[in-house]
Amino acid sequence: MKPEAIIHINHLNYHYPNGYQALRDISLTINAGEKIALIGQNGAGKSTLLLHLNGIYAGQGEININGYALVKSNLKKIRAKVGLVFQSPDDQLFSPTVFDDIAYGPIYMGLSPMEIEKRVDQALKDVEMLGFSERVTYHLSMGEKKRIAIATVLAMQPEILVFDEPTAGLDPRARRKLISLIETLPQTLIVATHDLAFAQKSFTRVVLMNHGQIMADGDPSELIENNQLLAENGL
Ligand SMILES: Nc1ncnc2c1ncn2[C@@H]1O[C@H](COP(=O)(O)OP(=O)(O)O)[C@@H](O)[C@H]1O
Ligand SMILES: [Mg+2]
Repeated sequence: MKPEAIIHINHLNYHYPNGYQALRDISLTINAGEKIALIGQNGAGKSTLLLHLNGIYAGQGEININGYALVKSNLKKIRAKVGLVFQSPDDQLFSPTVFDDIAYGPIYMGLSPMEIEKRVDQALKDVEMLGFSERVTYHLSMGEKKRIAIATVLAMQPEILVFDEPTAGLDPRARRKLISLIETLPQTLIVATHDLAFAQKSFTRVVLMNHGQIMADGDPSELIENNQLLAENGL
């Protein structure tokens, strides 16, 4: 592993319990600070791959995060480094209030009450939702829930952010707000998206998946303006 690589995946294969092979020989090296859009038609394997990055799924092959092999004994360390935001905020948010949802991670990390409050405040500021701390998460709009889901992860100050379809299901204004937020995040970013305009405009690299394999990996404009490549891969 090169010193600048923050994520290194080597020959990863994954079968679901029913035997379906969702990842086929995935090898991928990501350097610190890269902004990667992961594109591919429904069923390509994007979510399955993202769920490997903090050990929710474990396939055959090697994954190395920031120098740590992704194995059970390193899971706690790795989960502090990789913040994963699920496609559906309802999978991420489960507390009665916004404050409780965002404080959950920092509490789990064993931080002091003062530091927890600071982290929650800063995370709310980062997603431009200061003032929502006492609101009932369940009652927020989809766009607001998505921002709070991101805040729950930012509060843990991970070095790597992984988002699964953050703009899916948002109206145009909420989509634009979320894109501007994502563009300001300094962390290494890996974002699965169907939003090709977003992939082209806001990322430094695009990885295209189909049928569990990586079909292309490179410059966003080159890939997304390649109509033949997109058509061949069902996009
Ligand atoms: N729990 C599961 N059991 C069996 N197959 C699954 C399961 N979850 C997803 N799959 C299959 O794995 C493939 C990849 O799915 P997924 O990673 O969700 O794709 P994407 O996120 O690119 O749409 C799909 O064919 C999907 O039907
Ligand atoms: Mg998916």
